[in-house]
Amino acid sequence: MAGSDGAKGAYPSFSSRIAFIIVTAGSAVGLGNVWGFTYVAGQNGGGGFVLIYLLALAFVAAPAFMAELLIGRMGKASPPTAFTKVGQMANSRFPWASVGWMGLMGTILVLSFYAVIAGQALYYGLVAAEGGFAGWTEAQITGLDAGFRAAPGWMLFWAALFMALTAVIVSFDIRTGLEKAGKVMMPALLLILLGLMVYAGQTGDMAQAVDFLFGFHQMTLTPRLFLEAVGQAFFTLGVGVGGIMTYGSYMGRDVNLPRATLWIVAMDLFVALAAGLAIFPLVFSSGVSAAAGPGLVFMTLPLIFTEIPGGAVVAFVFFLLLAFAAITSSISLLSPTVARLEEAGWSRRKGAFTMAALAVVISLFTIMSFAGWRDFYPLEALGFEGMTAFDLIREGVSNFVLPVSGFAYAVLVGWVLSRPSVREALPMQEGMGFKLWYAIIRYITPLAIAALFVNAVFG
Ligand code: TRP
Repeated sequence: MAGSDGAKGAYPSFSSRIAFIIVTAGSAVGLGNVWGFTYVAGQNGGGGFVLIYLLALAFVAAPAFMAELLIGRMGKASPPTAFTKVGQMANSRFPWASVGWMGLMGTILVLSFYAVIAGQALYYGLVAAEGGFAGWTEAQITGLDAGFRAAPGWMLFWAALFMALTAVIVSFDIRTGLEKAGKVMMPALLLILLGLMVYAGQTGDMAQAVDFLFGFHQMTLTPRLFLEAVGQAFFTLGVGVGGIMTYGSYMGRDVNLPRATLWIVAMDLFVALAAGLAIFPLVFSSGVSAAAGPGLVFMTLPLIFTEIPGGAVVAFVFFLLLAFAAITSSISLLSPTVARLEEAGWSRRKGAFTMAALAVVISLFTIMSFAGWRDFYPLEALGFEGMTAFDLIREGVSNFVLPVSGFAYAVLVGWVLSRPSVREALPMQEGMGFKLWYAIIRYITPLAIAALFVNAVFG
């Protein structure tokens, strides 16, 4: 580890404020923006879903994001340990570490399906590198997706490769590589998405896409739709499993939390909307259904590459950047368990490879859900009709574990810790930003999450 405070035994830290923002934005921007947002919005009918998602982002997920960073900065340890320390500071007898442990389980579950989708992005990068997509027909493109999903061994191979790459990066200390790569790749991803959006507007039906995403439609606001929108807001910011907490623990005291949060949320939202505006014009000009599910991006985006000159090169760059965006997110998902194992005396390397291997094993549930178990609904008898193992894992984590953790963060920071101690932990941020956030985290965030669950159970 470089730098003056990098002496052996000292707690690790990022090298600068900008480094912190880039790495944390890298955790937020990922498959959730491009793959997740478009597929979930598509399945939930667009407009109304997007509006609830925006409200959930502003009043629930973003304030919880700041609370998670704060707990990390106060606790300066892995999530279960940080929770214990912060709970003790407040003289609370609640077993706060349990929230940390639930998050750690969440990280592995998210990785178990994240790796499969990221693996598909890597595979599409390879197809493009071989000159693929240029001149392909729509049938060839949907066939590529269907073929990939029908081949469990192949999906497993790419998922394992992706997890191995993640584990290699996490094995190094936090300053090496990650910060530098993020500075180049993040702006590149933004640029290429904007370019794709322009192309999609020319070749597809942009007006219908805008109307689908932002217009008002006749739709029934079911409890499930609310859960999905809130879950998506948490997922996209990466709040609720301790990844942000772990980064918060590496954050210097010079970072202005409200401002950093605002930047990260803005960047994250921008990428999601740009992805939506790149993908939906093609949905409406092709034969692909908006409700096609997890394969949506893989069936639509390549359509752009078939038409533009040098499409294979652009496709290669795009999937490479998407895979990179996924890696900067998966790193933040692998870091919390590794931080906990380090506390138990494990090396970073051993911890990283062990947890990555566990995620790969669990990824078999997702892989099989896409292949042989496509019509197998394990918890049908309990009322989860039509949900594959993948649906259960994804929705269980996003729509249950993440909001429950968010609720716990809000209670800990808004009610259990004293206001002066929260103020103390947020140096030099007197003023409107703090007051607004503090009011939201005390009242709106916990009430909104509680109402969500009451509605889901009794609605
Ligand atoms: N936010 C990332 C994305 O949108 C995924 C992610 C990173 C995540 N850290 C997380 C999701 C923690 C849930 C919990 O792709």
